[in-house]
Amino acid sequence: MHGIRDPALGLEGTGEDEIDRQHGEVMRRFDELFSVSHSAASRPIKRKCVQDLLDAVIYHFCFEEGLMVDLGFPYHGQHSQQHNAMVEQLIMLIDEFDRGFVEIGPRTVSSLRDGFKVHIDIYDREFIQFQARADQLVGAGGRPTGTGAGWGACASWDSV
Ligand SMILES: [Fe+2]
Ligand SMILES: [Fe+2]
Repeated sequence: MHGIRDPALGLEGTGEDEIDRQHGEVMRRFDELFSVSHSAASRPIKRKCVQDLLDAVIYHFCFEEGLMVDLGFPYHGQHSQQHNAMVEQLIMLIDEFDRGFVEIGPRTVSSLRDGFKVHIDIYDREFIQFQARADQLVGAGGRPTGTGAGWGACASWDSV
């Protein structure tokens, strides 16, 4: 836990290394998708990039919500609603792209990426602060993370 600045995120790290690593991975996927979104990349390449992004987002949200359940984070429900909304936006984008209704353009990708950044900066930070307080209360015994018990807690998103 050291809160280093992550250049990939363009903002302060949350202070939780694994969460920061996953945020970096999601942002890398956003950047990849942004690059292909304003290039002449083929539809299959765009489709693969957006799928990789969705997979990274779902993996991260499940991890984060698992920690919330393990720690009894009181705002898990509200936080989870934000996660659900972001996943639904991506699934809808993929669905409309598959049906030929929309292109995956840079403005759309940029807007989704901005929403993810704001979520990290406000809501994830709130959770990390709660986690840090839980660490202080539990003391040297450590908090009950890593049990895996919380993994079943996230919404059962079906990847597309
Ligand atoms: Fe989150
Ligand atoms: Fe997060």
